[in-house]
Amino acid sequence: MQTFGAQVTPSPSMSTRAGKDILTRTPNHQGSLGTAISEAVELAMTTPNCKYTLGSVLSHVTLHQTVIGLEAEKQMAMAGEYPDTVIACFGGGSNFGGIAFPFMRHNIKDGKKTEFIAAEPASCPKLTRGVFQYDFGDEAGYTPLLPMFTLGHNFMPANIHAGGLRYHGAGVIVSQLMKDGMMKAVDIPQLETFEAATLFAQAEGIIPAPESAHAIAATIREAKKCIETGEEKVILFNLSGHGLIDMTAYDQYLSGSLQNYEVTDEDVAKNISELEKVI
Ligand SMILES: Cc1ncc(COP(=O)(O)O)c(C=O)c1O
Repeated sequence: MQTFGAQVTPSPSMSTRAGKDILTRTPNHQGSLGTAISEAVELAMTTPNCKYTLGSVLSHVTLHQTVIGLEAEKQMAMAGEYPDTVIACFGGGSNFGGIAFPFMRHNIKDGKKTEFIAAEPASCPKLTRGVFQYDFGDEAGYTPLLPMFTLGHNFMPANIHAGGLRYHGAGVIVSQLMKDGMMKAVDIPQLETFEAATLFAQAEGIIPAPESAHAIAATIREAKKCIETGEEKVILFNLSGHGLIDMTAYDQYLSGSLQNYEVTDEDVAKNISELEKVI
């Protein structure tokens, strides 16, 4: 970014009110997507001619990303296949919705029976352990209230390497589909994620992003189930990004210093109880 002339400030920063408040409350705050969004919204509000659009969670982002599923549909047709299972990692839901929605439409309209699985980190399990209710999309509460699966906008995820999945809530459309039983979610620990990433790199020659490796791990789990049951399945997953800027994470995994983080039921319950103040 600096190569292209950008000035880069780590979040949380002292240059926004949201950042200052967060750092005053929690001096060692590690930051998260929810924190960075608050700071970006504030910067946009206070800078003339500056606009900010959320990168995930809101429906227009998922809509744009459906180009992934539309292309995948064509590629599957070229291969003479149709997926029994579609899998993507889950931060706010845009790459998941992007690959899943075009196929889900055939479940709704044409009676297809494809299964959809969102893979989230065990340390930030909003779909598997969060609640469905109105919440903010950012930590400081600047966004409109959104009906979503959430762990609470003040939830501070562990400092896992899949930074793009360290987000407390799920997009509005995906949340509703989850509530309606149109899809399911699994949560994956960090070490299983990197084990899957390493296997994928060895097999494909592509270093996956730690975020995407959650989808790979979920895919491996599904494939292993097929080995056990003898059932043949076509599994499609989305490789949402490469991991070439995540070498430190791989270094830590390979040197054995990476660990798993689980959220306790008490942590989840405490954050969710604070949500009552929101509405
Ligand atoms: C490589 C990668 N994959 C996935 C995500 C998760 O975002 P979303 O759930 O909106 O697709 C991110 C977010 O930053 C990312 O960087």
